[in-house]
Amino acid sequence: MSEHEIFARLKEIQRQGLEALQKVQDEASLQTWRTAHLGRSSAVMQIFSGLGSLDKELRPQVGQQANLVKQALESAYAQREEQIKAASLQRALTSEKLDVSLPGRRRPLGRLHPATQVLNEICQVFVEMGFQIYRSPEVETDVLNFELLNIPAHHPARDMWDTFHTTSPGILLRTHTSPGQIRLMREACPEPIRAILPGMCYRYEQTDASHESQFNQIELLAVGKGITFGDLKGTLDQFAVRMFGEGVRTRLRPSYFPFTEPSAELDVQCFLCAGKGCTVCKGTGWLELGGCGMVHPVVLQNGGYDPEIYSGFAAGLGPERVAMMRYRIEDIRSFWANDLRFLEQF
Ligand code: PHE
Repeated sequence: MSEHEIFARLKEIQRQGLEALQKVQDEASLQTWRTAHLGRSSAVMQIFSGLGSLDKELRPQVGQQANLVKQALESAYAQREEQIKAASLQRALTSEKLDVSLPGRRRPLGRLHPATQVLNEICQVFVEMGFQIYRSPEVETDVLNFELLNIPAHHPARDMWDTFHTTSPGILLRTHTSPGQIRLMREACPEPIRAILPGMCYRYEQTDASHESQFNQIELLAVGKGITFGDLKGTLDQFAVRMFGEGVRTRLRPSYFPFTEPSAELDVQCFLCAGKGCTVCKGTGWLELGGCGMVHPVVLQNGGYDPEIYSGFAAGLGPERVAMMRYRIEDIRSFWANDLRFLEQF
């Protein structure tokens, strides 16, 4: 190569290097560029290693010129590297930006089931009236659920409660909270009793909009000396006023339960139409809340109390009934279907 050719070559090396560098956009291709244009087998380094084969007088000039080209490429490299780093920092700053003033994500808050809310409310009313809360089991014996409540085996009154039996003979899911009456009386006797017994009951029902195989009940039990039907009526009246508001009326209709005598059905004046008649009370102006009556002497005796000395009243209220009327829930199956669209409304 002539002197002229070598300088032209160096010029070309510099031009190609700088041109290629313009196209480099990221750190990876920057390193590739460095290997290609400044690495050991790059064009400019080959000029250095070829110096030995040049004429002695040429070597210093070519070496000096090659150095300049190398320095030009190196400083262009450094500059480009800085630009790329600044750009990627800028990208990171915008894409990874945290706005610490943004409000946090709202966590969904749980809530009590509508049936539980109403159950708690009813319990609260009775607790304020001096009733204690007594818990009794959901898995019961046939003896407590029926026999001691004056419902012997094969008695036709058993048809009132379609029953879930377990595989253990004599063990069943309670069909009402009334077996708790016997448990409580046996525990408290001979002390007087004023208590409520809330909890889940189970019936082997053909389910439809008004029948469910599980539901809550709140049993009411008062036992003592000189307790009369008037006490029952006064207690239920006072409950209705505290629960549904001043001026609400109640009504007792004669009914039959084997464990109360006399027995009645408790109606409360419809709190939605104030007795005028609406779709919820089906035009009657009254809503059915549950059964009640004076504790049957046989039941008192089974609980350990002498019916000649003691008397008592009992009632069984349905909180889901109250919830259905209050919130105009049309299908009782909604309560245990666990559909969030239903549950989140309460
Ligand atoms: N246990 C009855 C039922 O489930 C309701 C009731 C309770 C009636 C207490 C009278 C007294 O149908």
